[in-house]
Amino acid sequence: MGSAITGWGEALPDHVVTNDDFAARLDTSDEWIVARTGIRQRRMGGTTSELAIDAGRAALKVADLDGADIDLLVLATTTPDQTIPATSSAVHDALGCRGGAFDLNAACAGFVYALVTADSLLHAGHHRALVIGSETLSKVTDQDDRSTAVLFGDGAAAIVLEAGARDELVLAYDLGVDGAATPLLYADHGGYIHMEGREVFRRAVRAELESIENVLSRAGVRPDDIALFVPHQANVRIIEAVNQRVGLSMERTALVLERTGNTSAASIPLALAEAADAGRVAEGDLVLLSGFGAGMTWASAVIRWGRRGLPR
Ligand code: ACO
Repeated sequence: MGSAITGWGEALPDHVVTNDDFAARLDTSDEWIVARTGIRQRRMGGTTSELAIDAGRAALKVADLDGADIDLLVLATTTPDQTIPATSSAVHDALGCRGGAFDLNAACAGFVYALVTADSLLHAGHHRALVIGSETLSKVTDQDDRSTAVLFGDGAAAIVLEAGARDELVLAYDLGVDGAATPLLYADHGGYIHMEGREVFRRAVRAELESIENVLSRAGVRPDDIALFVPHQANVRIIEAVNQRVGLSMERTALVLERTGNTSAASIPLALAEAADAGRVAEGDLVLLSGFGAGMTWASAVIRWGRRGLPR
């Protein structure tokens, strides 16, 4: 028995912060931010649970399911509402889900970690999982520090996974971490994000390249076989560097960071949900997901889009 993505949805706060909003009060400019990152605006506001609940509801609607149909909830986040309990508890309650729920923190690679974990649990006997990436990074970013403030935004996106499909959803995956790189990117309890941007950039390109090569080879597919690439949305220059080296075209790449900034664990599902809404993926298409983040973590997966064999 395989599994399939049957629903997807997103939630972005209403409040838009443009590059010019930063330039009005910090020593920066729209030109610098666009040229160095590709980001033009980001959303800020809400809590991680509120955004996750809205995204989860939207994904359930597309799947034509109720919360009670879900028997597993995995919330990928680095910005939980509280230290205790897990933010997924509030999301589980608000959506009326059944079964278990837990938070998963693998930074910007968190959504792919969560997808792989949930899919494995479907193979272990669960029926339907809601996998959400939700972040409120504006809470942990010093809004007066131009080197980080302009990069991060808030948002959430979710997918519904269902067991019982004819095809396997995950053809191959690659998860990794280099804990020795922790000092390059961290936020202490109650503190703000500290990032060695240039070094993180360098390592991000290297980690993503290796991870993508691993996962393509494990799946036995070539870059040309990939219909849609959904990378972590941190910096368009990282995405371009990876694409050029792997041989993936920007036309087949899902991008939202221009409008959202870096939303960590929410960035890959946001780009995936928008691509799915735009009809950029069809039954049987191969989709490559790849992210990297604090830890430093990385995660890639080749998945097959479509719901062949599902009863409904
Ligand atoms: N506006 C204007 N100037 C700026 C700004 C800004 N917003 N931010 C930094 N600068 C200045 C710096 O102070 C520096 O000035 P100096 O040369 O006088 O010292 C100059 O610009 C160049 O700084 P660099 O850091 O070398 O610039 P770079 O081209 O590397 O771009 C950036 C910085 C955008 C942060 C880039 O390094 C990057 O994207 N790194 C990767 C970040 C990332 O991918 N993080 C992902 C993980 S996030 C997570 O896990 C939560």
